[in-house]
Amino acid sequence: MSGGDSEPKESTLSCARCSNPAHLQCPKCVELKLPREGAAFCSQDCFKASWSSHKSVHLKANAATGGKNDEGWLYCLRKGQTRTSKLPHFDWTGSLRPYPISSKRDVPSHIELPDWAMNGVPKIEPESSLQHVVEIKSPEQIARMRETCKIARQVLDAAARIIQPGITTDEIDRVVHDATIAAGGYPSPLNYHFFPKSCCTSVNEVICHGIPDARVLEDGDIVNVDVTVYYKGVHGDLNETYFVGNVDEASRKLVQCTYECLEKAISIVKPGVRFREVGEVINRHASTSGFSVVKSYCGHGIGELFHCAPNIPHYARNKAVGVMKAGQTFTIEPMINAGVWRDRMWPDGWTAVTADGKRSAQFEHTLLVTETGVEVLTGRLPTSPDVFPWLKA
Ligand code: MF3
Ligand code: CO
Ligand code: CO
Repeated sequence: MSGGDSEPKESTLSCARCSNPAHLQCPKCVELKLPREGAAFCSQDCFKASWSSHKSVHLKANAATGGKNDEGWLYCLRKGQTRTSKLPHFDWTGSLRPYPISSKRDVPSHIELPDWAMNGVPKIEPESSLQHVVEIKSPEQIARMRETCKIARQVLDAAARIIQPGITTDEIDRVVHDATIAAGGYPSPLNYHFFPKSCCTSVNEVICHGIPDARVLEDGDIVNVDVTVYYKGVHGDLNETYFVGNVDEASRKLVQCTYECLEKAISIVKPGVRFREVGEVINRHASTSGFSVVKSYCGHGIGELFHCAPNIPHYARNKAVGVMKAGQTFTIEPMINAGVWRDRMWPDGWTAVTADGKRSAQFEHTLLVTETGVEVLTGRLPTSPDVFPWLKA
């Protein structure tokens, strides 16, 4: 339609659950002044059906807004609370604790933004048909994925080079943020569902989605750095777990085994293989070493969307549907625990930790299925630092 002289004041919102026109707003989102896009529902039924997943939006928004204007202690508390200088009551599973989170880093205006950068709510992603259908990428999309994934690799490598006892995970975040922007990209995690930082840093018993903060890395820690870059309209996602100084034998075995789990999973990728096989291969290797596989977080399709179909569990006897086809791009990112597989979530709504407080390691690549097998789009480069003893000649 054209020629209309009056724009509607408010565009019609679509239901966060079913995408139908929505006229109801979650009252808690209204109270917290959260973006209307993620707070709209078409009916009480959809609101109620969404509640178990929707409610974490309130926690995450707290995490993001608590430290907006100044550096400070921020523990991302229960609903309705903002910041405090005290730790929340929580049955911490290990010895790690949250530390202050620095203020939101700036992104220069020439950087192309994903749709959540401004208000914390991805709009295209949850409504896309690519949540149900696995896209076959065009040669042009694949060329962009290659470029973006190479940048993501170089950004992660820059982070790897500064890892040593005495630096903070916030300093890792600064390197990731600055290197991403220097390459012309946007750090995809920044403000994704209100995530407050530009990468995830997961120390010791943290399984994934740790928020970079003021904690200083100690000799003997392990730390995973998970980088995702948005560049030329596509995302590239990878992570690695690093040793901080001298690490005990048991942790070194855990990290190496996790690396091998990813390698073995990648080795089966080719057209015709069932997605559910990935979890069988990973579980076989992890359990042989006496380790367990995390179930709550999975590999995912990736491209113009950060997270989309297929969903790829890393554990055995999973119910993933479908077979791999040439032109698909997805991640495999096993999280392997020294103790029990079960995870718990910190009160910040992000940090996933092991239920028994024992350590967890992870490695991730973005992959392309080719006619004959697989291309590791985020693979190591000749310039990548030599940080894994088992890769030395
Ligand atoms: N990079 C993570 C993954 O592998 C996702 C991080 S989302 C964030 O899928 F919001 F926590 F950053
Ligand atoms: Co991922
Ligand atoms: Co990742």
